[in-house]
Order: sequence, then structure tokens, then C-alpha cells
Amino acid sequence: MANSQRIGIIGSGGIAAAHAAAYKKLPDVEIVAVADVIPGKAEQFIAGQQLPEAKAFEDHRKMLELELDGVSICTPNASHHVTAVDALRAGKNVLLEKPMSVTLEEAADMVHASKQTGNMLTIGFQPRYDPNMKVINDIVQSGKLGKVYYVETGGGRRRGMPGGTFIRKDLAGAGAMADIGCYSLDMALNALGYPKPLTVSAYTSNYFGTNPAYHPEASKFEVEDFGVALVRFENDLVLQFKISWAMHMDTLGSTLFLGTDAGLKVNPYGTGNWSGVWDGRVGEMKLFHDFMGQQTETPIPVINSGKDLFFEKVRDFSESVRDGRPAPIPGDQIVIQQAIIDGVLRSSALKREVLIDLPF
Ligand SMILES: NC(=O)c1ccc[n+]([C@@H]2O[C@H](COP(=O)([O-])OP(=O)(O)OC[C@H]3O[C@@H](n4cnc5c(N)ncnc54)[C@H](O)[C@@H]3O)[C@@H](O)[C@H]2O)c1
Repeated sequence: MANSQRIGIIGSGGIAAAHAAAYKKLPDVEIVAVADVIPGKAEQFIAGQQLPEAKAFEDHRKMLELELDGVSICTPNASHHVTAVDALRAGKNVLLEKPMSVTLEEAADMVHASKQTGNMLTIGFQPRYDPNMKVINDIVQSGKLGKVYYVETGGGRRRGMPGGTFIRKDLAGAGAMADIGCYSLDMALNALGYPKPLTVSAYTSNYFGTNPAYHPEASKFEVEDFGVALVRFENDLVLQFKISWAMHMDTLGSTLFLGTDAGLKVNPYGTGNWSGVWDGRVGEMKLFHDFMGQQTETPIPVINSGKDLFFEKVRDFSESVRDGRPAPIPGDQIVIQQAIIDGVLRSSALKREVLIDLPF
């Protein structure tokens, strides 16, 4: 297709298929290249996804020699840094899968590369495209809650542990706190306007993942399956962040915003072993406040938009590149939650509170 937007995909595993499906629905967008380090895997992906125009590569650097308007990075977390920086420095705009990186230094380096080159770095948090998130943001930012002083977010899966690359320290970097915790953090922090974190005190464990009774790959399980953290922010705000991939409990509760004038409760969406975490759509929402001197609870109607949130994130990236708009979910914002996750891992290793170092 002449003048169509040219897209490359790095990493052709599970989530790359969702990227390909989304790009294929967009007019004037063409996937022209796919790279995967496993020999033959990119070719297989191209055949399976029916992308006859696409070229296969083993080395992403070779792929980046092509003329491309945008690149989706769908590798395991540990390869996000090298692939994103190489893509940005090769003049490409980047849609990077979550979590942003393994270490804070890597995240900062990516932002630096984006700023230096002027190429877009956007992080793929599709829950942002749920219209209910706009409602939550509007409520929190309207001042209706008064001064927000305490937020609780995250949640718990009773039994929802991934395997493969997700449980290896060298490939994933961290476990549940980063894998699904990054969604909860993003939703809560985005509603709060990404305030500046100061300190964190955290605990993590992996009693379920390392137990063969609960995980088929227990001997390879190297990351945390549970974590809890208290994060202090500027302006007298604290956030309790708790996540589990597995536990003997039905719930770790809802997301709560406590303000001096009202409180907002957001329940996680869905039911079953893999639900219970604020990592996608929102469940019921309720405002707690006093009305005419009476303690009152007002349900907030949940919008069932039927939107494919994943498609919306890919479309937004593609259209932002096409129209020269800024990154929809900019790296220099998400680096803040990466600093929190970095603090969680340092604090749980040291078993004490640590300072959060923001690189910018
Ligand atoms: N947004 C979402 O809903 C969502 C869902 C699942 C996974 N993810 C994220 O997507 C990423 C990938 O997850 P997945 O489930 O697709 O993993 P996966 O293991 O199925 O696939 C990753 C692929 O990347 C390839 N790869 C590794 N290093 C590479 C490199 N340097 N260059 C090229 N290819 C490389 C691997 O060979 C593999 O084929 C992770 O960061 C994960 O957190 C996001």
C-alpha cells in the first residue's frame, strides 16, 4: 500500500498477536516487519497472522534498518530497554508493552533516548481507555472528594499465576507487583495526577509460586507472587499497594480513595481465579459522602462501552504518530511508577523503608 503507515513488531509471542490483530483492523496501516530472537519464530508468526508483506528478522537491529513509522515492543520485560532504546535511536516511534522496564535506570535511559531523539515513547496501559477511568479521574480531580489523603489499590487473584518468561528473574525482573501491579498503580496514580513519591516500605514473598502443589513450574519460580507496600507522596498523601497472584483468600479488597469530603470505592471487575485485581476494566463504583447531615452512598453508573481496550491503545498510538500528537501515555510519566516498583523491590530486600529516587 502506498503511503500507508509502516509498523514493525519486536517479539512475536502471546501479546504480539493482539498487537497484530489491532493493527490489521486499522485502515492505511501495514505490518511490514517482525523480529524474534528465536530462529523461525517471526516467520511462523507472519504466516499465522497472515501478513504476506512482512519480512522476518532474528535481530531487531536489522529490522530497525527498515523505514518504519512505528514499532510495537512485545518482548519479555528484560528486553524492553535494549529494544526500545535501539528503536528510538533508529528514529522510530515506540509503543512499549507494560511494565515499562525491569530497573529504574533502564526506564530513565529510555525516556532520555526519547527526549534526545524527539521520537515517541508510549507505554501500553490499555485500561486507560476504559471510559470509566475518565469518570474516576473526573471525580478525583473535580475536588469532590476534598483533600485526598489515603489511597488503597491493587487487589488479589486467588490463583492466577503465569509461568514461562513471567516467573524468571532474568526475563521478567519482578513478579506480580510489576506484572499486574503496574496497571493498578497507573490507574490510581493517573487519577491523582501522578504525584511525587517520596518513600516506600514493602514486603514481598513467593510461598505459592515456589510450591509444586500450586505451580507446575515451582522449581523455576524466582519472582514474588505477593506484595504489599506503603508509599508516601508529597502533600501528605499515602498509598497502600497490595497485589497477589495467589493466596488463600477471596479478596484483597477494592481500590479506595479517601478524601476529607468524600470517599470513592472502585471494585475489581469480573469473577474467578484470575480476577480480583484492578488490572483491566472496573467493577462497581460508589461514592461515600454525607448529604443533609446523613451518611450517604451514591452508586456511580458503570459505563459498558463494549470497547476493545487493547484495540483502542494500538489505534491511539498509530493515530498519534500519524497526526504528530504527543505520546498518549508518555514514558516520562510512567517512569514515576517504575521508581515506586524499584523502591518496592529494594525495600522488601532490605526489610526497611527506602527513599524513592526520581531520575527527573
Ligand atoms: N498489555 C497486556 O495486556 C499484556 C498482556 C500480556 C503480556 N504483556 C506484556 O507483553 C510482553 C511480552 O509478553 P508475552 O506474553 O507476549 O511473552 P512471550 O514470552 O509469549 O513472548 C515474547 C517473545 O519475545 C521474544 N524475544 C525476547 N527477546 C527478544 C529480543 N531481544 N528481540 C526480539 N524478540 C525477543 C521471545 O523469543 C518471545 O517470542 C511482556 O512485557 C508482558 O508483560 C502485556
